[in-house]
Amino acid sequence: MTTCYINGTYQDISKTNVSITDRGFQFSDGVYEVIAVYENKFVDMDLHLKRLMTSLNKLKIKINLKLNQIENISKKIKRLNNFNNGIIYIQITRGNQHPRDHKYPNGLKPNIIIYSIPKDFKKINSNAKRGVSTSLYPDIRWLRSDIKSISLLGNSMAANYAKEKKNHEAILYDERSYITEGNSSSIWIIKNNKCITHPLNYRILKGCTRHKLISIVKNKKLKFEEKKFSIKALLKADEVFMTSATNFVMPIVKVDKHKISNGKPGQITLSLRDEFINQI
Ligand code: PDD
Repeated sequence: MTTCYINGTYQDISKTNVSITDRGFQFSDGVYEVIAVYENKFVDMDLHLKRLMTSLNKLKIKINLKLNQIENISKKIKRLNNFNNGIIYIQITRGNQHPRDHKYPNGLKPNIIIYSIPKDFKKINSNAKRGVSTSLYPDIRWLRSDIKSISLLGNSMAANYAKEKKNHEAILYDERSYITEGNSSSIWIIKNNKCITHPLNYRILKGCTRHKLISIVKNKKLKFEEKKFSIKALLKADEVFMTSATNFVMPIVKVDKHKISNGKPGQITLSLRDEFINQI
């Protein structure tokens, strides 16, 4: 049984209900967060909660809970579900509205759910030793990818395209063939010992793992630049990797049929992964 927090109560997840009038259900009008729990520790909880608030503010969704209350509920969910490795999922939608209308009135009561999913990071760790393969896919998402909204159809189409090709992740490119990000990750390349990732703007999410890794890269005295890079630069990179709450730092060794360098995880990537895990 999984215990889920829903609007102030703790219930067996299979017994929880949200109305079909929920604007999350009708309009994808809501936001979410995924926070890893690795070997009993929350990973970057503060960064995720801060981003949750940023997403809510960008959509003008007002909640009655303070961030420390959300943190306490997340800790309680971990305790009740009794796991050491997994994720905490937080979703907040604007609330129920009937009759359906694109325009919402003031004062809707947001639906807040928090639950956990156990996850075995051993598989991720063994993937990291070999590196993963990826597919290129056009970035067909809406133009506010900086908001961690539950509107994920474009991401889901990309992810399932990669799955059909037996690949781990889709790497998205914009209308001018620049890489934006992964279907659920930030994408990085390393060229001549310089780590490069897309600058923060409306086309990408401000990844918490990305944020943490930038300080690791700087502490290691590696060169770093936030800069757009093309598909061509991706394929010619010395190393490629993705970062996310669920993969940490994951080496990418293949993009469609094209091998990155010698087709093995890069040394810098692996050292960044080690350091990231050390710091958890
Ligand atoms: N996704 N970009 C996108 C589109 C994402 O969905 C994610 C994370 C990231 C990386 O962000 P972070 O480092 O904060 O996890 C970048 C989560 C894991 C998900 O949707 O499951």
